[in-house]
Amino acid sequence: MPASVILGTQWGDEGKGKITDLLAEKADMVVRFQGGNNAGHTIVIGNEEYKLHLLPSGILRKDVISVIGNGVVIDPGFLLGELKGLKKRGVNMGELKISDRAHVIMPYHKAIDALEEQAKGILAAGTTKRGIGPCYRDKVSRFGIRMCDLIDKPSFKEKLASSLELNRSYLRALGGQMDATVEEIMTEYEAYAKKLAPFVCDTSVLVNSALDSEKEVLFEGAQGAHLDIDHGIYPFGTSSNTITGGCCTGTGIAPKKIGKVMGVVKAYTSRVGAGPFPTELKSNVGEQIADRGGEFGTTTGRLRRVGWLDLVMVRYSARVCGLDSIVLTKVDVLCGIPELKICTHYMLEGEEVHDFPASMRTLAESKPDYHVLDGWSELTEEEWKACQGGGRETLPMELQAYITFIEANIGLPVEIVSYGPGREENVMLV
Ligand code: GDP
Ligand code: IMO
Ligand code: MG
Repeated sequence: MPASVILGTQWGDEGKGKITDLLAEKADMVVRFQGGNNAGHTIVIGNEEYKLHLLPSGILRKDVISVIGNGVVIDPGFLLGELKGLKKRGVNMGELKISDRAHVIMPYHKAIDALEEQAKGILAAGTTKRGIGPCYRDKVSRFGIRMCDLIDKPSFKEKLASSLELNRSYLRALGGQMDATVEEIMTEYEAYAKKLAPFVCDTSVLVNSALDSEKEVLFEGAQGAHLDIDHGIYPFGTSSNTITGGCCTGTGIAPKKIGKVMGVVKAYTSRVGAGPFPTELKSNVGEQIADRGGEFGTTTGRLRRVGWLDLVMVRYSARVCGLDSIVLTKVDVLCGIPELKICTHYMLEGEEVHDFPASMRTLAESKPDYHVLDGWSELTEEEWKACQGGGRETLPMELQAYITFIEANIGLPVEIVSYGPGREENVMLV
């Protein structure tokens, strides 16, 4: 399968970074197609932990080309900081390419993001305040500045002048202010442009020619299907298309080129941000899962809300993303919990609801209906390692039953089970 897509099926933080890095071992290219530094993708290699935000999760492998596609929004100062951080740690990075059509996050986008959150009141998503939404808005309204503009002084000046004026008046309407002049912003951003220019190219040409010559290309999603701007929990999600379709628009490849889509499913559900969460746990079990799972936002450090696995959500993602298989992560976090619940459908006004609702009011009123399964006990490191070679049959019976239940309900195979943050902590089932 030359083109494989890896994406989140829930509300993000499913472990996409770990799985992308794992599969990148056999890849020639890893491509990010949407989002920006709102993402936080963690990779653990031995005692080293890397938290990537804009850089694709192939960057730690020196033989892999990492591509930031046109669908990504780039904070250039942040990206340079990320590169510098990895260099400082002595990482032998792979080659990096940045799309000339990717949009640039400007200082006013970040200022607007924070103020809009206040203005939205109860409709605020709890954004990462990285300027993601305002940057995508400028893109869609055609006031945006792309990487090809950033590295071309006359275009940059022209576009910045009109965009700054408009955004400044919007900021004022929100109760904020931005005194920086076009010249001041240009001085700052030209320094970034100079450093980033060597990486900028038409990445659609690059990715398509890699695919045409049968190279292995992995497309790495950020966020999760339920944060998608069209298909997610609007208005509490993010501003990009996180589903498989976003991979085509965000890189410039045709849908028919996609060979395989893998959906990463956390063995329970987590959410960082606001909005209805039907299976949310507000009990000791919830605290235990959050604590053991280290459920703190990789980008913002905020405590993540946690709940039981919700298959209404995963079935929806399987449909809108056209999933071929599932990667089940963080099963170790559920060790030792005697009874586990999996939501199969919701109940609303006495009726069963099998499809994830569009209306946030309906979602808030939906009550989860659960299938209850026995939990599995703690496994030692040696016991987990023994499962690595043995596959499915060597996993605890209760975990096998948990996996089988998910497979039957979603109608897809679980291909990989991840039992720890480390690169090697996986059991291949297929
Ligand atoms: P992403 O945004 O989908 O890449 O996920 P994050 O990196 O934001 O969050 C996942 C967290 O869980 C990170 O701290 C990972 O190191 C960690 N992690 C990934 N897979 C596993 C697993 O199977 N077990 C445990 N315990 N932690 C995991
Ligand atoms: P990864 O790639 C979890 C959430 C924010 C907020 C909403 C909108 O690490 O899975 P934004 O800053 O995008 O405008 O915020 O989306 N959010 C994420 N939650 N993981 C992420 O990325 C997220 N990126 C954005 O918390 O509710
Ligand atoms: Mg994350």
